[in-house]
Amino acid sequence: MKIVVIGGSGLIGKKLVTNLKELGHDVVAASPSLGINSVTGEGLAEAISGAQVVVDVSNAPSWEDQAVLDFFETSTRNLLKAEAEAGVKHHVALSVVGTDGLLESGYFRAKMAQEEMIKASGIPYTIVRATQFFEFVESIAQFSTEGQTVRMPSHFIQPIVSDDVAAALVVYALDNPVNGITDLAGPERMGLDDLVRRFLSITKDSRHVVTDDNAPYYGVVLKQYSLVPVGEARIATTRFEDWLNRATK
Ligand SMILES: NC(=O)c1ccc[n+]([C@@H]2O[C@H](COP(=O)([O-])OP(=O)(O)OC[C@H]3O[C@@H](n4cnc5c(N)ncnc54)[C@H](OP(=O)(O)O)[C@@H]3O)[C@@H](O)[C@H]2O)c1
Repeated sequence: MKIVVIGGSGLIGKKLVTNLKELGHDVVAASPSLGINSVTGEGLAEAISGAQVVVDVSNAPSWEDQAVLDFFETSTRNLLKAEAEAGVKHHVALSVVGTDGLLESGYFRAKMAQEEMIKASGIPYTIVRATQFFEFVESIAQFSTEGQTVRMPSHFIQPIVSDDVAAALVVYALDNPVNGITDLAGPERMGLDDLVRRFLSITKDSRHVVTDDNAPYYGVVLKQYSLVPVGEARIATTRFEDWLNRATK
């Protein structure tokens, strides 16, 4: 089956392309560095021609409010138009758990716009909302650092490793469209403050975490369940400490 991975050179995209190729599929990895651009349209129609499935795991180069909105709106519009013309049977997109409750953030407003366009497109779809990747924890800590202090709320997070996200996306891409949203999360739920403490301890980072439930997460003041699945979810198996201990060896 021909499957196009938009963002095929990214963290998730590379792993997904490898997994799908190993199963014998005809996979096109699409991204600007590979000559295919979903914003300008460069190479897009040729890439999507004859494809049954398109998986969008792209991300915006800038997360500034207007730039990120422009990226997801333009890219998604171009993709859905090219897919309609090519008769694509399934559009899979990677989004973030809790997106609809995080709209104080420009990034999540852009992800919400992406989701709404997909739902309205008429193309059968699956929106997979994942929790934060283990690989993203370093950025979370960095974003909230002032001097030697990292100010983090104790609200729940349930992170997942990128390998498990890529493995789950294979299953969704090859299955029938859900025509809805499905949540994907890691095996452990913990406080954001606790997660960052564990990260700093294992990586022998001298910064310290101060728990502050009013400290914003990327500009959003969280509620207890803002970042975790509240209903049914697919739960991955890799535990944060096992991964981090392996990664730092
Ligand atoms: N980070 C998290 O914790 C998290 C959690 C849940 C969901 N997500 C979602 O996961 C998705 C993928 O994240 P990631 O961390 O794997 O992204 P990433 O590593 O930053 O990769 C982004 C990819 O998008 C491609 N791209 C950028 N502009 C493009 C364009 N105009 N046309 C086509 N492709 C373009 C990049 O291509 P080049 O390499 O050529 O620039 C790259 O392949 C995002 O949509 C994000 O919202 C992330």
